[in-house]
Amino acid sequence: MLGNLKPQAPDKILALMGEFKADPRQGKVDLGVGVYKDATGHTPIMRAVHAAEQRMLETETTKTYASLSGEPDFQKAMGDLILGQGLKPETTATLATVGGTGAIRQALELARMANPDLRVFVSDPTWPNHISIMNFMGVPVQTYRYFDSATRGVDFEAMKADIAQAKKGDVVLLHGCCHNPTGANLTLEQWAEVASVLEKTGAMPLIDLAYQGFGDGLEEDAAGTRLIASRIPEVLIAASCSKNFGIYRERTGCLLALCTDAGTRELAQGAMAFLNRQTYSFPPFHGAKIVSTVLNTPELRADWMAELEAVRNGMLKLREQLASELRDLSGSDRFDFVARHRGMFSRLGATPEQVQKIKDEFAVYMVGDSRINIAGLNENSIPVLARAIIEAGV
Ligand code: LMR
Repeated sequence: MLGNLKPQAPDKILALMGEFKADPRQGKVDLGVGVYKDATGHTPIMRAVHAAEQRMLETETTKTYASLSGEPDFQKAMGDLILGQGLKPETTATLATVGGTGAIRQALELARMANPDLRVFVSDPTWPNHISIMNFMGVPVQTYRYFDSATRGVDFEAMKADIAQAKKGDVVLLHGCCHNPTGANLTLEQWAEVASVLEKTGAMPLIDLAYQGFGDGLEEDAAGTRLIASRIPEVLIAASCSKNFGIYRERTGCLLALCTDAGTRELAQGAMAFLNRQTYSFPPFHGAKIVSTVLNTPELRADWMAELEAVRNGMLKLREQLASELRDLSGSDRFDFVARHRGMFSRLGATPEQVQKIKDEFAVYMVGDSRINIAGLNENSIPVLARAIIEAGV
């Protein structure tokens, strides 16, 4: 029977990780998968995470099952982190999930349970796995224009026109901050306009918030999400703790469903717990406990925020340095968008052939659509990348 299986196309981002590993060249540069790395190329365990784990080791006495929807302290801490003062616990259903991807999957399953004819509008481009998951689920995908390849910013008028085609019963997937893969983000004024379009159409937003704290700051990166939450009656938010807590392999995330009333919240919470039970039963405990310990312990929270801020500022500095190097080499400001983009990624706008040339001749790995992971750079590799970009004719 298993012989009937069809070969699967490899995930491009994960395949690139393997290709990089196998490359024997000295000085190769990995700008592929979205993992934070320090200047030495190492992905450190954050200090507060380490301290929280130590506390857990000393105080935990059991490994028995915990809650199907996640622990209340984790749910509350994440609700506060994402929505701040705007959190309304009586109308918010919360689910601990297997990372941010798990939150996306459960969000789509939930929306489809509520509307079997669900369609999802996604930005062009978006994280490839969004589309892959929807294709696998058989959920129709509609793209909305987003990235302007001339300015490398957001083509906002086109975006608005396209999401205005969504209808009640559809979902519009938005990146809460640090758009993946482009790095081009909405301003708060634009978020307000998006809210107006959603109000008119009645479509439900699903916000993917995977990089809170990596763009303009923890509060600033949540501002668009909070604005939508304050204006749209039903909102789904899929959050990841992989990046901002650096706990990638612990698979920690959550799904919030903002509902109109307590009765609907109860229905949503029940459906979400059911989805966890049907998919993997209990969600991972360890990463969620790290997160709630950090967020609920003032000194750990302060230290985490300070370290996250240093990480964020480090990436901003790398952006400035790369833009400056490219300004010098090209004799123009046409790459200044790198400094304007926010988050871990920038889409350079190179062709697949140019991306290939950069990999073959300079051992610099980026995703095929020319997405670079800014955190993969350091002072030594910035000049290498800049020269590669110019020599490839980008
Ligand atoms: C990425 O976009 O590189 C990350 O979100 C990692 C992944 O799972 O693709």
